[in-house]
Amino acid sequence: MNRFASLSAVIVAIVAFAAPSPADAQRKLEFAPYAVPAEGAVAVVVRQGAPMEGAFAEVDRVSGGALQRAVAAAGFIGDRGVMLNLPGVGPYQQVVLVGVGSEAASPRLLEDVGGLVGQAAALSGAPRIELLWPGTDIAMAGGHLAMGASLGQYTFRNYRTPRPGAPVLGQGELVLRVADAEGARRAWTAQWQPVAEGVRFARDLVTEPANTIYPESFVERTREAFRDVPGVSIEVLDVPAMQALGMGSLLAVGQGSQRPPRLLVVRYRGGGRDEAPVAFVGKGITFDTGGISIKPSLNLWQMKYDMTGAASVTGAVLALAKRGARVNAIAVAALAENMPSGTATRPGDVIRTMSGKTYEVMSTDAEGRMVLVDAIWFVQQRDRPRVVIDVATLTGSQVTALGDEYGGLFTRDEALAANLLAAGAASGEDLWRLPLHPSYAKDLESPIADLRNGGSTARAGAGVGAFFIGSWVQEGVAWAHLDIASMAWRDLPVLPTVPLGASGFGVRLLDRYVRDHVETPAP
Ligand code: BES
Ligand code: MN
Ligand code: ZN
Repeated sequence: MNRFASLSAVIVAIVAFAAPSPADAQRKLEFAPYAVPAEGAVAVVVRQGAPMEGAFAEVDRVSGGALQRAVAAAGFIGDRGVMLNLPGVGPYQQVVLVGVGSEAASPRLLEDVGGLVGQAAALSGAPRIELLWPGTDIAMAGGHLAMGASLGQYTFRNYRTPRPGAPVLGQGELVLRVADAEGARRAWTAQWQPVAEGVRFARDLVTEPANTIYPESFVERTREAFRDVPGVSIEVLDVPAMQALGMGSLLAVGQGSQRPPRLLVVRYRGGGRDEAPVAFVGKGITFDTGGISIKPSLNLWQMKYDMTGAASVTGAVLALAKRGARVNAIAVAALAENMPSGTATRPGDVIRTMSGKTYEVMSTDAEGRMVLVDAIWFVQQRDRPRVVIDVATLTGSQVTALGDEYGGLFTRDEALAANLLAAGAASGEDLWRLPLHPSYAKDLESPIADLRNGGSTARAGAGVGAFFIGSWVQEGVAWAHLDIASMAWRDLPVLPTVPLGASGFGVRLLDRYVRDHVETPAP
């Protein structure tokens, strides 16, 4: 390579892998003892039908009744999840009201409150916003508020050119005024900030378009994120390495693209020496055109998010490693770009997977299961995990079945089902269990190979896809498949902790699963 070429390669690398620009700085989270400030920007929680209590009453008094008049004019009564953003109330620069309904406080409610305030804070020019939470009934309330605030204020404006003279929004501080400020700060730093960083990592990668995130740049971003995180080792398989292992299935998906595929393995050791790991395997299609079975062009741009599973499992292990979880956990990202070209896999092709099992390609658009089975086989052979959970934007059928309320859960293991459903409810990333009926085997029969990669479109598509993947799971391994096609990208209405766009769905869920059901308790 001549000097100019290598120099331009360096420049491209810097542009592609640059850290988020200051345009994406989020507000710094601070903690302070509960008190009602006499000016500035404040966020106040309002219980349904009971506005004249606590911080609201105090802010109203300081503002000479202006707050109550504004609230009456707006018809705001504190319904759960409703936010009222009032600029200039008496001496206050801004008052953000967050309705919490009449439900008792819970960690999930606190995260939602934090999330709504975070969303308002991201659009505010106030240098300092103070969220007032007088309650003492939830331990470490501030940690949950902070988690919500961090997730809610997520924005991605790296490619927006700032308008000259326009104020920069969403910068400065977000102060959480809570009863136990010190305890909240500790809970945030040790327990929740790592998870928020895992979600941010996933959202950033998913939001990036496919001209910046492709298998190799996904790997570089991951190396960058894990730099200096203790207990972690990273292994990357390139094309020759995958050929040597016989990974014909992952390679078949990548072979139509100019961007070569990769298998990325992040291993975190925080548990016992001889403890079998839990393995999280993510679908990492950096762009899914459908391949030769090409997709229609409507909304095709969204298929940049077809690597959400890979981003989420990697983000989850980032969270576990950063909080020093007492577990051995592995993230496997099966990375490829699914493109049509003269070298692309064709419908009808027969593929030999790493396991030796073969299948006939019905559709090159059923590529998620193709990359996953080699990744799952690899981690089973290499690491002997006791649990394998794969995460994938696998089927349109899951979207039709569950909408944007639930990810689809498929497993034959009752204990794993119960644990994942509980982790979903606790984390705010809900799952709904769907069947793996034995009859789906019929849909996957091929006259010339061991299997085929899809059945009739009139059948249970999400279940058939799950069944295909399950055919590569070894005896004695507890396996679950999460089809998150409907959850990866948020359209309206947004949720308090999930702004428009990339959700990072799976990071909070898998962290919660490990926290509540896998991790060995501290001695
Ligand atoms: N990435 C898609 C699934 C998808 C669809 C994710 C919509 C998010 C939103 C996947 O690779 C796909 O194309 N699946 C096919 C499978 C079929 C060909 C068996 C589908 O669902 O139609
Ligand atoms: Mn596809
Ligand atoms: Zn896909």
